[in-house]
Amino acid sequence: MANQLLSTVAYHDSLPEGYARPEHDRPRLADVRTDTNIPLIDLASPDRHRVIAEIDQACRTYGFFQVINHGISEELLEKVMVVGLEFFRLPPEEKAKLYSDEPSKKIRLSTSFNVRKETVHNWRDYLRLHCHPLEEFVPDWPSHPETFKEIISVYCREVRLLGLRLLGAISLGLGLEEVYVEKVLGEQEQHMAVNYYPRCPEPDLTYGLPKHTDPNALTILLMDPHVSGLQVLRDGAKWIAVHPRPNALVINLGDQLQALSNGAYKSVWHRAVVNAEQERLSVASFLCPCNSAVICPAPRLVGDGEDPVYRSYTYDEYYKRFWSRNLDQEHCLELFRSQH
Ligand code: OGA
Ligand code: NI
Repeated sequence: MANQLLSTVAYHDSLPEGYARPEHDRPRLADVRTDTNIPLIDLASPDRHRVIAEIDQACRTYGFFQVINHGISEELLEKVMVVGLEFFRLPPEEKAKLYSDEPSKKIRLSTSFNVRKETVHNWRDYLRLHCHPLEEFVPDWPSHPETFKEIISVYCREVRLLGLRLLGAISLGLGLEEVYVEKVLGEQEQHMAVNYYPRCPEPDLTYGLPKHTDPNALTILLMDPHVSGLQVLRDGAKWIAVHPRPNALVINLGDQLQALSNGAYKSVWHRAVVNAEQERLSVASFLCPCNSAVICPAPRLVGDGEDPVYRSYTYDEYYKRFWSRNLDQEHCLELFRSQH
């Protein structure tokens, strides 16, 4: 198994070999609570100071928040979800052409997380795309379904604008100049993961994605509004299910914003679980520093006479380190603490 796409098989009636986790590493779904209090921020609010303060508060505590009235139309969000699902329903021959296990490939369809490195697999197929600049990558994107390139390009463009707006608000919330974070990150790359989680015969034994933090700067997640699956770790101990909200986008901070904020903002652990009843699709957009960006805590956020929590490094160094590990090891940023 493993280098075979889950979505090419109609239905699995039992968990294939290689997917069951050992007893101590299972999702314990019965212990998970649903939290309807994940901060929900209305970006169209006329009180901009309040919006910035709410984002700041969410980034310090939850590391996750949802935005509504974000400027991306309901119709477009729906088209993205539909075309994403259609992609995974393509015939196996069509999907086989795009399959690759090589993490450095800029356009690829794969399964699990990193099948070359991992010992247990995850109940997920995913399409990964580089998205910026669009002109450079779109020609190599899947040409089926026929509307894929167009719908996803429009969405990528809008997501980027939203992401940059959020980075501006985040800079202000940290007490920095509005363009501070954007400047440090340089000409940011933008990647996308279209995650497909098929129905799973034994969801208590496996994950769609095991616990991880995102290695990039900011993630904007579009989720199926009817099927939950995303869970976030609260206070380092409790898993909370994020209740999907129609037309909202879920925002989470990646490791680079935790580093830039000198640890004030959190890149929190999260995971995706699967279920036996319904397939689930999510579309994650990642804003990533350019490879040569030098990331270090903003000097203004480091107290007088104190050492910055993290040393300075290039994103290239970080990203290579991230992909050389298993997803659910210690927080990758721990390897970049000043004293290391
Ligand atoms: C991710 C991720 C969660 C989900 O793609 O990094 O955390 O619900 N996805 O699919
Ligand atoms: Ni993630």
